[in-house]
Amino acid sequence: MRISRKMEHVHYALELGQSRQQGLSDIKLVHNCLPETSTDQIALNTQIGDLIMSSPILINAMTGGAQETESINRELAIVAREKGLAMAVGSQMSALKNTEVASSYRVVRRENPNGLIFANLGSEATVDQALRAVDMIEANALQIHLNVMQELIMPEGDRSFVGMLDRIAVIVNRIHVPVIVKEVGFGILKENAKQLHNIGVSIVDVGGSGGTNFAAIENARRSAALEWLNDWGTPTSIALLEALSVYPRGSVIASGGITNALEAAKALALGSPAVGMAGAFLKVLRTEGVDALHRFADELEQGLILIMTALGAKTVRDLWQHPVVIMGETAEWCRVRGID
Ligand code: FNR
Repeated sequence: MRISRKMEHVHYALELGQSRQQGLSDIKLVHNCLPETSTDQIALNTQIGDLIMSSPILINAMTGGAQETESINRELAIVAREKGLAMAVGSQMSALKNTEVASSYRVVRRENPNGLIFANLGSEATVDQALRAVDMIEANALQIHLNVMQELIMPEGDRSFVGMLDRIAVIVNRIHVPVIVKEVGFGILKENAKQLHNIGVSIVDVGGSGGTNFAAIENARRSAALEWLNDWGTPTSIALLEALSVYPRGSVIASGGITNALEAAKALALGSPAVGMAGAFLKVLRTEGVDALHRFADELEQGLILIMTALGAKTVRDLWQHPVVIMGETAEWCRVRGID
């Protein structure tokens, strides 16, 4: 039997890995040798809009929709429950069209009845589909992903992107949970952030480049036919500063190529309430198992506590006030684009 597209994405995401060219090496946290803090004073709880989170680490959207993906979602959900992390499921469109695969998503709510769980659909979704996706997993929020370049590289992908903004606007107006518009690794820049802000989208997830690379993944699935597109997209550091030039602090989730606590702390310090990680969690889960994933999440949180203690930032909001220096390509880009 042909391996499903969902499992091909998992396979190639792992095989190709993450370049970690997400631009965060351009962000320098200013050292504080007199922090006046102790580790037991650090609080990791945070808030994205009205969503109260006990940790700023979010397991970002990955999978569901094929039999083999159910165990991945189950194991991610177990760690999300044990660690109190918010978690998004992968695109639920397949389950809306074929209810037989809905259990591969529902397992996430079954394993984590009280956790923060985000539904996920593409911008082709109707209001009815959005309501059903939220209902399917009793989601606390809905992610709408934007992945134009991925679709174009996929031979079987969409070819028309007309009406995306209008459809998102209708969903935002009709749905009873917060809507998060996210990219999948090409970034959201200020022009698009303004468009999304104007239609009432209150939270975006920049999903910048430098991590899981869906241009490369789709090219690997079809023998690198369009490999000259593999560098498409804007690094996370830049996308974050672009989106934050439109959205207030606390409304822009950082994601794309974040793999450790230092990268997470830098992204938070720029003004994010939370950091989304997909590929890094998938790699630990698939190569080392669920206990290792739990330890990895522990290490991320302990690492954040260590960095926040060193900086003298007791909360994520304190991190937003911490001085940072922006260097290199990220600084140059911001200068050219007139972003402070
Ligand atoms: C994804 N991602 C994703 N995003 C989305 O909104 N819906 C989806 O169905 C999927 N599917 C998916 C499958 C796999 C295997 C991976 C690794 C990722 C994208 C993901 O949420 C994230 O935006 C990008 O992967 C960039 O973040 P990382 O992986 O660099 O941390």
